Amino acid sequence: MAWVTYREGAAYGEEISFHELAARFGTPTYIYSAQQVQESLGLLGRAFADLPVQVFYAVKANANGALLRLLRRAGIGAEVVSGGELVRARKAGFPPHQIVFTGVGKTSQEIGLALEQGIRALIVESLPELGEVARVARNRGVQAPVGLRVNPALDPNTHPHLATGKGGSKFGLELSQVEQALAYIRSDSSVSLVGFHLHLGSQIEQVALYRVAWELLLDLWQLAQRRELNPQFLDLGGGFAVPYLAGSPFPLEELAALLRGRVPEGCVVLVEPGRFIVAEAGVLLTRVLYVKEVHGRTLVVVDAGMNDFLRPALYGARHPIWPVKRRPGSPRRVDLVGPVCENADLLAQEVELPPLVSGDLLVVGKAGAYGFAMSSQYNSRPRPAEVLLLEGEAYLVRERETVTDLWHKEEVPPCLAG
Ligand SMILES: Cc1ncc(COP(=O)(O)O)c(C=O)c1O
Repeated sequence: MAWVTYREGAAYGEEISFHELAARFGTPTYIYSAQQVQESLGLLGRAFADLPVQVFYAVKANANGALLRLLRRAGIGAEVVSGGELVRARKAGFPPHQIVFTGVGKTSQEIGLALEQGIRALIVESLPELGEVARVARNRGVQAPVGLRVNPALDPNTHPHLATGKGGSKFGLELSQVEQALAYIRSDSSVSLVGFHLHLGSQIEQVALYRVAWELLLDLWQLAQRRELNPQFLDLGGGFAVPYLAGSPFPLEELAALLRGRVPEGCVVLVEPGRFIVAEAGVLLTRVLYVKEVHGRTLVVVDAGMNDFLRPALYGARHPIWPVKRRPGSPRRVDLVGPVCENADLLAQEVELPPLVSGDLLVVGKAGAYGFAMSSQYNSRPRPAEVLLLEGEAYLVRERETVTDLWHKEEVPPCLAG
């Protein structure tokens, strides 16, 4: 994360001090670096430059409209998982042919929306969904472009919540159901096969798994040819790991090497990274409220809670924590806790930090993916602001919610009013 640096003991994001950002925008606030987003996109572009690979950003990682526009301008596509994400992607300017729609539970309305927009592919995850896509397309008098998502039944060494490509997970068709799906597609002209899809899971470190997955996709490609179907793409999904605390970046070159010379004629390879593009481009800026001692532990109570940043509570995720000002004195081992009424509201456990006092600022690093996107109003806490650093300026790209936003959509029956 080269965009976070220290100058004379104080932390800066790109060229702007975090003290200044906190003064302008308050805390907790997500701060994103456009520079870092470009850097990650550059890595992807360079790794796959000589290959027919197209990047489709997984919008779920961070759906902020300004970030989406930045990504759109870079020419990449979008992978969406709901009607909401589809509308967001369109609003940000992603052209329909650069959008694929995944997800196990698309409603008829969402399928209709995708068809109306004319997106590149509806990635179908079950036989009943295939029937529903065909029904909606037939009613509209159009042909639905379908990608079949298979469950590769591979077990990645990642958190169980993130192992979506493991056998028995809810995602995709079982391999044994593919023949039936192909037969259906051949028999019903309201659907056409445009590709195959799989997603191993998230935070995948081993390229070896992608090798096995690619073999599987190649088998499916050949199967489709034998069944006289002509798909256009093979989609390897996302999942490229980010080294949160230590380790090396995901070896994109190795992934490119395994594809080189092995992409069938006329086939485009899609990849759907989310975390890889935005995780390192975001931090969560938070302020220390209190420092307290409990049973021999030092707890630093900060103003960001699990409602603002869920990953540590949900996955036991560990993120780097940096003090905005390095105070002199020996570092102490502390736990960082938020204000939410849950024991799980622990942003960081046993981290070594220099002395801290109320009012100090901390930066939770590598928080750009699945950060704001997973935030909620739990404990009636308004969601944080989001700021984008772009070409030397800091732009507020989402206002902090206010308490009145908490009941924005609520109605009170007249007999209870007043
Ligand atoms: C179908 C699909 N594609 C892409 C992604 C993005 O994964 P990541 O952010 O780990 O790259 C996900 C994440 O859950 C997904 O479900």
